Amino acid sequence: MKRHLISAADLTRDDAVLVLDTAEELARVADRPIKKLPTLRGRTVVNLFFEDSTRTRISFEAAAKRLSADVINFSAKGSSVSKGESLKDTALTLEAMGADAVVIRHHDSGAPHRLATSEWIGGAVVNAGDGTHEHPTQALLDAFAIRRRLVAGPSGGLGKDLSGRRVTIVGDILHSRVARSNIHLLTTLGAQVTVVAPPTLLPVGAGVWPCEVSYDLDAVLPTSDAVMMLRVQRERMNAAYFPTEREYARRYGLDGDRMARMPEHAIVMHPGPMNRGMEITAEVADSPRCTAVEQVSGGVSVRMAVLYLLLGGSEPAVSTTRTEENTLA
Ligand code: NCD
Repeated sequence: MKRHLISAADLTRDDAVLVLDTAEELARVADRPIKKLPTLRGRTVVNLFFEDSTRTRISFEAAAKRLSADVINFSAKGSSVSKGESLKDTALTLEAMGADAVVIRHHDSGAPHRLATSEWIGGAVVNAGDGTHEHPTQALLDAFAIRRRLVAGPSGGLGKDLSGRRVTIVGDILHSRVARSNIHLLTTLGAQVTVVAPPTLLPVGAGVWPCEVSYDLDAVLPTSDAVMMLRVQRERMNAAYFPTEREYARRYGLDGDRMARMPEHAIVMHPGPMNRGMEITAEVADSPRCTAVEQVSGGVSVRMAVLYLLLGGSEPAVSTTRTEENTLA
């Protein structure tokens, strides 16, 4: 693994499989009565959030705490950033407090990269979503959910990668860091990716991405193993990209009728937050085929795995506790 996780493209197939396997091991801890491991005791993880977040922020916080790290949560609102403090000065402050890892979400694409390549901080940098660029841990948790639901290994255990699985990503691709990271990661793991969107919500240059491009959702549903619906990101839109919400929902929304055209085993995914009634109907969102909630719970294990692999060093991720050691001895 590289020292930082900025882009899903930083991960080789072996790195990505290692994260998923480690997350699988760590997920078993979530089923124990005591969910905490001593692995990152004495380490400090800073959550540096310049943009609103529910799932990602609490997920990283839960992940770091379950590994016994000290967690400092920083949000730009209510901090000196609102007084005009720069990223550099904020970073130098965190460094002075001894941050071993900085998890950063920022409205500007490239901010985590700037932090990682600067001299300002010495710890690992994890990109928790930067502008319209990337969101690598979201892609990892999506791959984790796909593997758990759709990939059985030879002995009934989990297969390693996503070879041959067909994943369709639908909606506001233009503004979606989730789509960009997923295209990198899912293809690295052997899946075939198709993106579906109105032409106005596809970036110029999507043609050179390692995926198929389609404007017709109904045509690709019958051959999809997983259909990932994206939120229409109004906060990033500065123009009219489609005539009306109704028109968008009619062409690109997933409702019960459309879901019935998917193969029986196929799953529906959504990174959240959902716009119910827009890209997904309540019927689909609440159906057992939709993995949105599983994506969140698996997300904690995946982020534990990422923090452990970037910070943990030599100790095994899941070691026996002291009391267990004593009993065994
Ligand atoms: C995504 C994000 O923030 O990029 N959400 C998330 O991390 N769970 C997608 C979105 O905001 O639509």
